[in-house]
Amino acid sequence: MAESLPVILITGASRGLGRGIAQRVAELGCSAILNYVSNAKAAKETIDLCRKKQSSKEQRFVAIQADINSAEERHNLVTKTIQEFGRIDALVNNAGIGPKERKDITEMSEMSFDEVLGTNLRGPHFLTQLVVQQWLKDKTKSLLPGGLAVIFISSVSAEMASTNRGEYCISKAGLSMVAKLWAARLSGEGINVFELRPGIMATDMTSGVKRKYDKMLSEGFVPQRRWGEADDVGLAIKAILSGHFPFSSGSVINIDGGVTLPRL
Ligand SMILES: NC(=O)c1ccc[n+]([C@@H]2O[C@H](COP(=O)([O-])OP(=O)(O)OC[C@H]3O[C@@H](n4cnc5c(N)ncnc54)[C@H](OP(=O)(O)O)[C@@H]3O)[C@@H](O)[C@H]2O)c1
Repeated sequence: MAESLPVILITGASRGLGRGIAQRVAELGCSAILNYVSNAKAAKETIDLCRKKQSSKEQRFVAIQADINSAEERHNLVTKTIQEFGRIDALVNNAGIGPKERKDITEMSEMSFDEVLGTNLRGPHFLTQLVVQQWLKDKTKSLLPGGLAVIFISSVSAEMASTNRGEYCISKAGLSMVAKLWAARLSGEGINVFELRPGIMATDMTSGVKRKYDKMLSEGFVPQRRWGEADDVGLAIKAILSGHFPFSSGSVINIDGGVTLPRL
């Protein structure tokens, strides 16, 4: 039976920002596919949290394991989503990784470069391609007030250079162009595309450098003087999917407490 509620496909929804996004999507009354790569237990916890927020009994939350860095698994993810729900109304490209080891750019390995770019850049680009092909083939009419949407979670690292994780910065700078390209291609099709750029966010990704960032925060590095939370991103996505940005396709939205403000 085809789903009568909007369906949101969120990559990397088992933990961190993806979990925050999933909960706001649940609050909005949508069903969701919660993708993860290895942490099935965390994905199950996200489902439980979504159930607490859901506003209608018909909403369904399904976890699907798939490595965004694998063409075959991306294909399976979209196929299983369509089998399960019969539709997709929005794709949130959130899954991402940092380098396993932060190393100075003079020591960066090609293996780390390939791994980070495969997950953060090639993965979301080609996953978007699969979803868009499905939309164009099915002539999908959105059930969302904001229309069909693709959202890319990039980073302030698309612009800010960190010489000890250059591969991450390169991947996010590339992802920013991926978002622009899809916005240019899709806006005329009634599909809106957004790039969200989080700053320093409290998730597992930053847990290893918490002390360093705590110190930077206490010294005013972030004008709003706090860590970003998953819900800061969840709220922005809820606003987009609710239709509060109807004339803004191609926009970059900073969710960074002002860290990218040019200051003297
Ligand atoms: N945290 C920050 O300060 C920050 C700042 C700016 C931008 N971002 C971006 O925000 C996004 C989410 O980051 P986060 O901080 O929430 O990270 P996180 O806490 O480390 O969570 C990463 C999520 O991505 C999933 N994932 C990792 N590799 C994957 C793959 N190959 N295929 C599918 N899923 C995969 C993980 O699944 P498992 O649980 O199965 O491992 C997990 O759900 C990333 O794109 C990141 O670059 C983060």
